[in-house]
Amino acid sequence: MSVLKTGGHDPPGLSLRPPQSSRESLVRPARGPVLPPLGPSRSGARTPEGRGRRVGGQIAVALSAGDVVEQRVLTGRAADREVAAWWRIGRPERIAVWAALGLVALLAPACGGGEPPSNLVSSGAQGSAIGDLVSSLPEPRLHGTLSLEEALARRRSVRDYADASLTLEQLSQLLWSAQGITESRYGLRTAPSAGALYPLEVYVAVERVDGLRAGVYRYAPRQHRLELVLARSVREQLCRDALSQSAVVDAPVTLAFAAVFERTTRKYGERGRRYVAMEVGHAAQNVCLQATALGLGTVVIGAFEDGSVQRTLGMRGDEEPLYLMPVGRLPSQ
Ligand SMILES: Cc1cc2nc3c(=O)[nH]c(=O)nc-3n(C[C@H](O)[C@H](O)[C@H](O)COP(=O)(O)O)c2cc1C
Repeated sequence: MSVLKTGGHDPPGLSLRPPQSSRESLVRPARGPVLPPLGPSRSGARTPEGRGRRVGGQIAVALSAGDVVEQRVLTGRAADREVAAWWRIGRPERIAVWAALGLVALLAPACGGGEPPSNLVSSGAQGSAIGDLVSSLPEPRLHGTLSLEEALARRRSVRDYADASLTLEQLSQLLWSAQGITESRYGLRTAPSAGALYPLEVYVAVERVDGLRAGVYRYAPRQHRLELVLARSVREQLCRDALSQSAVVDAPVTLAFAAVFERTTRKYGERGRRYVAMEVGHAAQNVCLQATALGLGTVVIGAFEDGSVQRTLGMRGDEEPLYLMPVGRLPSQ
């Protein structure tokens, strides 16, 4: 087993994402895989914990014990031994890492395709080349069949979807719930925003929506319309960016929230970063409840490679991805 210590450079094949400002633990229910906890590194190497990725025939995983972070490339046998040791030690964070590793190993082929294609998309160039193509969306409906209380009671993370497309009406409703304008004078939206500064941008990776070509779109709340960013399917690459979580490749649509932190920190300083994190929670919860009310399923995904998602979705340089939300019909439908 070769051991790669985290130093000034990323080891080949492993790209490190910036740290999270606070320790978070992404836990799935008993039946599902446990997702990697993310946390800060005292070394200042800004290293994610518990991240795994296939590198050739091996599995590379970033491990953490407290603040000491290292990256190891494990082959199958060595990984097994390591896992057995973790179980004996029984340290919860190591078990979480094992589960993350297992998740990556299990789901690595889930994204389909072979090697990741080189990403030819640069947000600026591609975006401006076709960014003027727009698709209008149906007006959002303000009446539904499920009460708010029922939606709250029924909301559950859904990671398996029926093999079916969404309608444009459904997509319209989801986007409106995320950041739709609900007040015309100041352009106030469905989700609260500190100082009404609206740092969030909503992207949508469309795979199968009736009447819409596959591609990446940016939601324009003022006009309630979609602007084409990339005219091609990105779901396999996006799935890989999200540590091979199969929900992303299976869903007919994946919403992505990004933030331009500067819009809020300009006014609120460092505290603005906290506000932005709160805001994406508000907006994502709106989408969760809207999806439930429409009889659809979704899950919030926070485990992904920031830079890769940014490139795959053709985001602008100042936009940082925060959440992915695959959405689809429930398997029974
Ligand atoms: C910040 C955050 C990040 C999350 N990231 C992921 C993720 O990457 N993948 C995933 O499958 N679930 C993710 N989840 C969903 C949780 O696993 C889920 O909410 C939890 O298991 C509770 O289940 P419930 O949503 O059905 O109530 C995340 C949840 C939160 C709040």
